[in-house]
Amino acid sequence: MRLTDSNLLAALPPLGIERIAGASLAERTSLGIGGTTDLLLVRKHESLPELVSLLRAAVIPYRFIGGGTNLLIPDGELPWIILQLARRDPDIRIEGNFAWIDAAADLGRTVTTCAKHDLGGLEGLIGVPGTVGGALRMNAGAYGTQIGSHVREVVVFRAAAGKIETLRGSEISFEYRHTSFAPDDIMLTVKLELPSKSFLEILQGIRICNEKRRSSQPLNQKSAGCIFKNPPGASAGRMIDELGLKGFNVGDARVSDRHANFFVNAGHASAADMLALIAEVRQRVRKAYGVTLENEVIVWNE
Ligand code: EPU
Repeated sequence: MRLTDSNLLAALPPLGIERIAGASLAERTSLGIGGTTDLLLVRKHESLPELVSLLRAAVIPYRFIGGGTNLLIPDGELPWIILQLARRDPDIRIEGNFAWIDAAADLGRTVTTCAKHDLGGLEGLIGVPGTVGGALRMNAGAYGTQIGSHVREVVVFRAAAGKIETLRGSEISFEYRHTSFAPDDIMLTVKLELPSKSFLEILQGIRICNEKRRSSQPLNQKSAGCIFKNPPGASAGRMIDELGLKGFNVGDARVSDRHANFFVNAGHASAADMLALIAEVRQRVRKAYGVTLENEVIVWNE
């Protein structure tokens, strides 16, 4: 979709918003899949309410992306404008055991920056790609760490109400890969409470998690991490593996040889290839185990 409304286009520069016309979402997602549209890079959080109200007034559909690491976006010309917070170095303010972090910050760099201030607890999240905001929305977790356990406050733009609000951690429910945020909430800043640990101890934890991840996940291939959530008490990866589906493919969408719950784009996979692979694997698992796997990856439907 292209922005043509001249009033809207003129309003963007004063709000500090950069327009990237005809942006390729395939270049902005870790799966390397996604069509084209105009993308608006938001440099100042305070501009969001006005931007969204302008888009609403002009009846322009929009969607928001964080780091694009857990998303499957359709092919072709997309029917939405995309909003994205501009990435920057972790803007971290620390006071005692509390850290205030920009949602657009890279999650991995946030883990290491907190470590340099002797704040741990996030070691398991090292190597989870994406932004702090994306991690919050999904309650990202790995190796016994879930980001939600450390959240004390979130500043969020509630697009439905058009307002920026501060929520206390106790007002948000963080479950396995699920939170109570509304679909159109946009995370802006988070306050985490983290345990004090020595830098060396944290580094040791980081090394162990990195090693585990390197040995079990296809880190050098394009993927969105795990495609399915684990059903209660079971492992989606193990079930898919047991069915002999490693390497199974639809076009260039392929079940990883290393971890069967990672589906990789082995070349020029389309969204349609990836969706067909997801549907086929889900159906085979249902037939063999009587379990319907739920998507972990967020699929945008038109
Ligand atoms: N397994 C297999 N074959 C495979 C993959 C796994 O037999 O191809 C077995 C493993 O040997 C292990 C069990 O299944 O006994 C569980 O595997 P793993 O430890 O790799 O963990 P997982 O349950 O597959 C979860 C998260 C990952 C996270 C790891 C580490 C989900 C859907 N996945 O994977 O998160 O990195 O634990 O904590 O919860 C993600 O969310 O995108 C993600 C990758």
